[in-house]
Amino acid sequence: MMDSMEFETLPLFSKPYFSWNLSTDYVGRRFIYRPDSDSTMEDARRMIDRFRLTNGALLLAERQTAGRGRAGRSWVSPPDVNLYFTIILTPAPDAVRSLAYVTPLAVAHAIEEVTRGEGAELRPELKWPNDVLIEGKKVAGVLIETTSAADERLVALVGVGVNVNLDSGSYEEIRDIAVSLKDALGFAIPREELLAAICNHFEELYEAAAGGLMAPFEEWRDRLVNLGRSVVASGAGERIEGTAVDVAADGALIIELPGGRRVSVEAGDVTLRSAR
Ligand code: BTN
Repeated sequence: MMDSMEFETLPLFSKPYFSWNLSTDYVGRRFIYRPDSDSTMEDARRMIDRFRLTNGALLLAERQTAGRGRAGRSWVSPPDVNLYFTIILTPAPDAVRSLAYVTPLAVAHAIEEVTRGEGAELRPELKWPNDVLIEGKKVAGVLIETTSAADERLVALVGVGVNVNLDSGSYEEIRDIAVSLKDALGFAIPREELLAAICNHFEELYEAAAGGLMAPFEEWRDRLVNLGRSVVASGAGERIEGTAVDVAADGALIIELPGGRRVSVEAGDVTLRSAR
């Protein structure tokens, strides 16, 4: 990792520096940089056919004016401090569900790699369905959507927001629930190194899962902070309270109700919180 002193004034994202750290075959090789975007998800949808975006293309914005989170929430997206990006993939239909666990796991591995050394390594926690936490607060979120290209190919849009050098305390709406790497470490992290590391880990894990390996799923499941805890799942007018006991192979969370009956909950628009 570069000397943190060099990052006291935060520079614009450097594509050459990002490319220098990239070791993938296809993820991030086509790179589209947007100083401004409403949402990289919407930009990606508009560009798929117009710019013939192929498997692995990555669209990054310095800021978003209408960043979207799961369950209709917004994603706080001020300029120059964080990562807001969407990876465009053309997966086989049965590879889509691996994205829900491969993506947060790749982000966690990348954070560990980039913060390693100088005694500063962070070990993020993972929360179902696809959040990345540090000390119980959200450092990264993942939004996965599918669409189809003009030629009918299935396209998956993997949207990722990472709080990198944000001063979370300055944003009242997220102060209590969000954290940045800089908040946790006390110094800034070069966003280019982190994004390249996310792409590198993502491609490796995605290929492993597509090749039938269970290791990425098992590592994600084993790291979930929810399992064994009392949870409340709510969404679409329903509310389920019980103990999160496992995750099915399709990614659904299995909750045991007080009477012992087990129900499975699909990610969809569900919000999961700890029961009090
Ligand atoms: C969540 O609610 O946890 C998901 C947050 C996803 C935010 C990212 S930022 C880049 C991409 N563009 C968006 O509008 N949302 C995703």
